[in-house]
Amino acid sequence: MKKIINDLSVYLSGNDGSKTILFIHGFPFDNTMWQAQVDEFSKDYKCVSYDIRGLGESPAGDGQFTMESFVDDLETILDELKLNKPILCGLSMGGYISLRALERIQEKFSAAILCDTRSEADNNEGKIKRAAGIKRINKEGLAPFVKDFITNCFGDDFKQNRKEKLQMIIEKSSQFNPVGVKGCLLAMLSRSDTTMNLGKINIPTLLICGEQDTLTPPPVMKDMFQKINEAEFVEIPKAGHMTPIENPQMVNKAIRDFLVKNNL
Ligand code: MLT
Repeated sequence: MKKIINDLSVYLSGNDGSKTILFIHGFPFDNTMWQAQVDEFSKDYKCVSYDIRGLGESPAGDGQFTMESFVDDLETILDELKLNKPILCGLSMGGYISLRALERIQEKFSAAILCDTRSEADNNEGKIKRAAGIKRINKEGLAPFVKDFITNCFGDDFKQNRKEKLQMIIEKSSQFNPVGVKGCLLAMLSRSDTTMNLGKINIPTLLICGEQDTLTPPPVMKDMFQKINEAEFVEIPKAGHMTPIENPQMVNKAIRDFLVKNNL
C-alpha cells in the first residue's frame, strides 16, 4: 500500500500488528532497491520503505536538502505512522540518514542495520567530487552522471552477469528530477560526521558490507563496527556497494540471523 506523508511516497506491506522494519534507500535510487528484503520480511514483519525527498516519486521541491531535513522527514514518517520502535535499516545515503537519526533520536528505534555506509563526513576531495557532479548534471543533463555513478556502485559479478537489470536501474534513476538529485548531493556534501556518536549507540546493530564495495569498503565498515558496543559485522560475497540487490539471499540471511539472535 502506498501512502503520501508530508509529500513523500511511503510504501507499507506485511502484517500491521508485527514489529516494523523501516528501510531507507541509497543514492540515486528509490524504495524498490529493497524489493527483495520487503518480499522476504513482509511475511512476518511490517515493512515500511519510502522514497527520499527528491528521488523516486517523492517531489524535489526547491531541492534545498540537508541531512537534517532528511532526518526530519524520517521522524515525520515515524510519527505519522505511529511506529513503535522500528528496526532502522539504511544503505549508504540511507545509512547517513540512519546514523544521524541515531545521534538525534536513538530512543525511537529498537535496532539498526547499517549497510554499505560510513560515519565520516566527506573530505575535501569528496566535496569537490560532489560539486563536479552537480556541474556535470547542469552541463550534460542527468543521464550521463547517473549512468557512471550507478555503474560504479555495483561489483564485477553483477556488472558481468546482470547487465539487463543494471540497465533497468540506470534508466529508472535517469528519469528522476535533476533538482532532487543535485539536492541530495548537496545534503551529502554538507552532512556532519557521526563517528563520535558510534560509541553511544546502545541498541543491537548489524553492519553489512559487500566484499567488492569500493565506495564504502569492508575496512571502513569494520572500523565502524569496532566503535559500536553491541554490533555484528557481516561481509557479503559476490557483491559491491548495492548488497541488497546484488546478493539478496545472503543479505536476507544476515538480517534474519540478526533479528532471531536479538529476539526482534
Ligand atoms: C549511496 O549509495 O547512497 C551513495 O553512494 C552515497 C555517497 O555517494 O556517498
